[in-house]
Order: sequence, then structure tokens, then C-alpha cells
Amino acid sequence: MTELEIGGIPARTLAEEYQTPLYVYDEEKLKNGMKRFKQGFISHHFNTKVLYASKAFQTIEMLHLVKEQGLGLDVVSGGEIYTALAANFPEERIYFHGNNKTLGELTYALNNGLTHFVADNLMEIELLEALCKEYSKKIQVMLRLNVGIEAHTHEYIVTAHIDSKFGMSYESEDCQQALQLIKKSSHLQLEGFHAHIGSQIFDLTAWFAEIDQLISYLKDFDETLSLNLGGGFGIRYTDNDRPLPIEDSLRQLIRHTEETLEQQQLKISQLIIEPGRSIVGEAGTTLYTIGFIKKTPHKTYYFVDGGMTDNIRPALYQAEYSCDIATKLSEEKTEKVTVAGKMCESGDIVIKEVLLPAAKLGDILAVYATGAYGYSMSSNYNRTVTPAVVFVGNGESRLVVRRQEYSDLLKGEVAYEHP
Ligand code: LLP
Repeated sequence: MTELEIGGIPARTLAEEYQTPLYVYDEEKLKNGMKRFKQGFISHHFNTKVLYASKAFQTIEMLHLVKEQGLGLDVVSGGEIYTALAANFPEERIYFHGNNKTLGELTYALNNGLTHFVADNLMEIELLEALCKEYSKKIQVMLRLNVGIEAHTHEYIVTAHIDSKFGMSYESEDCQQALQLIKKSSHLQLEGFHAHIGSQIFDLTAWFAEIDQLISYLKDFDETLSLNLGGGFGIRYTDNDRPLPIEDSLRQLIRHTEETLEQQQLKISQLIIEPGRSIVGEAGTTLYTIGFIKKTPHKTYYFVDGGMTDNIRPALYQAEYSCDIATKLSEEKTEKVTVAGKMCESGDIVIKEVLLPAAKLGDILAVYATGAYGYSMSSNYNRTVTPAVVFVGNGESRLVVRRQEYSDLLKGEVAYEHP
């Protein structure tokens, strides 16, 4: 193949039809990603649930796919709930997370039929109790716990880091009070405990440690509770990333949970996970058009027509990506270049250093694995319009989000009369 195809369509055709920058998602990869989780996360000892962490990439069409594949949903804001409702996502399959849900958001969630809340702190439990009383609602509550484990790509650390913005430590006064409040409440039912230990994790031992911690709290309860392990499965951005196959990871997590429960003679009713990146990341490719090419004494720059506005991750986290010139797959990679964006900021670099064939103005550059936290963290900085999102498969494409127009940039601005 000399020219990149996505979902059976040449990248150049997609770029011509929808303009660049363009977010392209391979629909089969999205579906297969979800199937792998759904089919691989199964136990004969307890129920299992996979929630898609929709902050990674949320649009109505994506949520229809999630719904069809039978996954639940993790949402973190009123806006994410609004989008889920617009996709007719079953309310009972939605879990509402967040460390500072506002009164408005909680009221909105309760009055729109959400029944699963992952509470972060004592004040939230107090407010939920008051609101459920006021609106006569009964809800299930998971408590987000800080288990003192911080997972990094290849290792993890056990921290005494009890000052995290997220969750409470189980032993804390606040957590114990929250548990008492829930116990007394006729509106709140304790569903179980939740923790999330990091992102882009390759090493399962961090999860094993998390599971051990969470299970250790269960002996204080007569009722059978659920555990939610959060998300964080690593994906392949570049050749340096070698994640375990998801199926293996899931099997090992389930086995570790089953064995630990058995050793301690404990039971859970359900084990939940919340993958985001690992479902959408590798299904997404961003297409750019190469504009000017510039040589400085030590560098060659290929400038593209997007950058930190459509993918903030390199600037924010020094995230690394791989790329190709879509029409020159078989050409020799002779140029060591920096791919840079067009925003007014020196940090607006897409890829710091990469080998590519010699390019010319107008070539299409494909950056791989941009499906997670690209579109969802996009911005209008420099009054840049947000690119379109298309889903492709079987040689066909469909527009999921149209490219913004300049007039969209003025939406919401209040017009005053000026002489
Ligand atoms: N569950 C909870 C409670 C979370 O906080 C997160 C991500 C997830 C699940 C999903 O994690 P994932 O499977 O996608 O790693 N913007 C950053 C990532 C922030 C993740 C925040 N929480 C990035 O672009 O890398």
C-alpha cells in the first residue's frame, strides 16, 4: 500500500471531502474495542460491568455505539449528561463521577433519572441526602476512595499521598462519617467503592494492589458490595509503547479479584471497570495538510494546519505520537523533522522529532492514535475552528460532527449597538 486508507477510504479522499484538520474514527475499531472489553471482562463468581469513560471522546453517535454494544457510561459533568440524554442513553446505565458536582448538576442528574452516583467527599453525600429527600429519589452511591496507589506506565508507587483532589482515604473521619450517613439514609444505598489509580498503565501489579486495598475494606460490611477499579489501560501511541493485549489484562484482573476474594472468604456483587482511552484512542487518526516547510540551523519544520487546538496532549503532557505522510507510505524516510502546529505558542508542537519522507506543501499528514482526549480537549484558541469528526468503515464515511464555521465562533457573544 502506498497510500494510507482508513476504513477502506484513502486518507486523501477524506481530506478533500471534509477538509483538514480532520478527526477520523474507524468504526469497526471502536466497536471491536468495546466488544473486547465486554466479552473479556467476565467472571463466574460475580457480575461485571464495563463503563465507557466518555470524557475520552463524547459525541451523540459515539454514545449510540456504546449503547448498542451494551456498555454503561461514566459521565463527569452536566454537559456529558446532557449529551448522553440526547443520545437516549439508558439512564440506569450511567454513573455520575466528579469531585465537585454542582448543585445544578446534581439536581439535573436526579431529575433526569440517573441512579448511580460516585461520590467524592462528605459534603457531596450530605447534599445528595438532602436533594434525594427533597425530590423523593432513591439512588445508589459508590464512594470514591484514595487507595494511596499511583500507577505510572511501567511501575507504580504506594504513596502516603492522602492529599489528592480526588476521593477520600477509607480510614479518614470524613469517609467514616459518609458511610454512617449512608447507613442511616433511606434515600442513599451504598453500592460500593471506587478508585482510579492512573492513566496509560501497562503494569498490572498496580491494579492488583488496588484490588487488594479495595477488598480489604469489605470485611467491615455485612452487605455484598460492588467494586469499581476505574480506567487507565495503556495504548500504543508509538513503538515505545507495548501494552499487554486487553484480553490478557482483563483475564488477569478478574482472576486476581476472584482469588483474593476466595482467600479472604469475601464476596462482591459486581466488579466494574471504566476504560476510556483504550476504547477510542487507537481508533482515531487526525489528518492534517502540510503547509510551509522551514529549515532552521538545526531543524526542519513541517507546519500543519492544526495543532494544540485539536490535540493539546503533546503541549500539556509531552505526549508522543507517530505519523506518516498519507500519500507517501512507501517512500524512504530521509528527513528528520519536527511537526509543528500553527498556533501562536512555541509549545505548539505535534511531534518533536520524527523521520518522514521529503514533503511538499499540500501533502496530507496522518497522526495516529489521536482518538482519546483529542477532540474532547479541543479549543478555539487563536479563534481556530474545531475540525469535523467522521466515522469510516466498509469504504464509506459519515459526518458525525461538522467542522465549525467562523460564525460558530461568535455564537454566544452578546451583540450591542455601536455607532
Ligand atoms: N475513570 C475515572 C474516574 C477517571 O478519572 C478516568 C480518567 C477514567 C476512568 C478513564 O481513564 P482512561 O481509561 O481513559 O485512561 N486528559 C488526560 C487523561 C485524563 C484522564 C482522567 N481520568 C490525557 O489526555 O491523557
